[in-house]
Amino acid sequence: MNSKITIAGVEFKNPVMTASGTFGSGREYGEYMDLNQLGAVVVKGVAITPWKGNPAPRIAETYGGMLNSVGLQNPGVEAFIENDIPFLRQYDTKIIVNIAGRTIEEYCQVAERLGEVDVDLLELNISCPNVKEGGVAFGTDPFMVEKVTKEVKKYSKQPLIVKLSPNVTDITEMARAAESGGADGLSLINTLLGMAIDIYRRKPVLAMKVGGFSGPAIKPVALRMVYQVNKAVNLPIIGMGGIMTGEDAIEFIMAGATGVAVGTAHFNNPRASLEVVEGIQKYMDTYGVKDLAEIRGII
Ligand code: SIN
Repeated sequence: MNSKITIAGVEFKNPVMTASGTFGSGREYGEYMDLNQLGAVVVKGVAITPWKGNPAPRIAETYGGMLNSVGLQNPGVEAFIENDIPFLRQYDTKIIVNIAGRTIEEYCQVAERLGEVDVDLLELNISCPNVKEGGVAFGTDPFMVEKVTKEVKKYSKQPLIVKLSPNVTDITEMARAAESGGADGLSLINTLLGMAIDIYRRKPVLAMKVGGFSGPAIKPVALRMVYQVNKAVNLPIIGMGGIMTGEDAIEFIMAGATGVAVGTAHFNNPRASLEVVEGIQKYMDTYGVKDLAEIRGII
């Protein structure tokens, strides 16, 4: 049984990726797992200059998940290129770089710079709910989704995956806008906007008051959105949102995902993505699935 997949002409040894922001650039996880086993490492959002992120506290545990308000802290594209790409290139896995910006120009600058280096795909982050400019401010307006996608496409040498926000009334509208802008694929979902209150301090738990909610509690929402988007557009989808096991990943594939990304599960179990790879293989072996295309989008 072989679990190879292809997205925008790039072949992955299996569909399992790390969701941006939950895996750094893989360094911290190297001692727990063999990064060669992953289909791809999707790195934390990278901007044209270093960003220091939001004030703490910026994470909180909730029932079945967590909230984060990191604010896209990152070292900037030059430090990323110098330190992280040589580290990741030691491994036989694809590299997907999540790109962030405050303006369309900044996104374009990052894409242009990354066009000069050895990475496999770009993931356009227009869905981070924790920044005032860029992020979800672009990702909730179909006009802007199309415009940013179209502009960044002009500068990106690698295929461009657009990461969608669930914080909209109709995600298929955003998916269609990204497709019209020339996206080569979609990833969904980013986090749902949420909140937690410390009743003893009578204050929100997060310094920014609200943050992005992720983890197994959001899986049914994510699955429903992948299903709807798959019916609405003709683009490969990387599905994510609460994937903890191989069975969860198979659900996303049946809903229409080509790739699957594991995120919050890493904070509970650093080997989670590897276990998802093994779980998918076990399902395929047990049920005689020779190629994931046989079950993709069958719902
Ligand atoms: C963050 O850094 O605040 C989260 C990133 C994201 O939601 O895209």
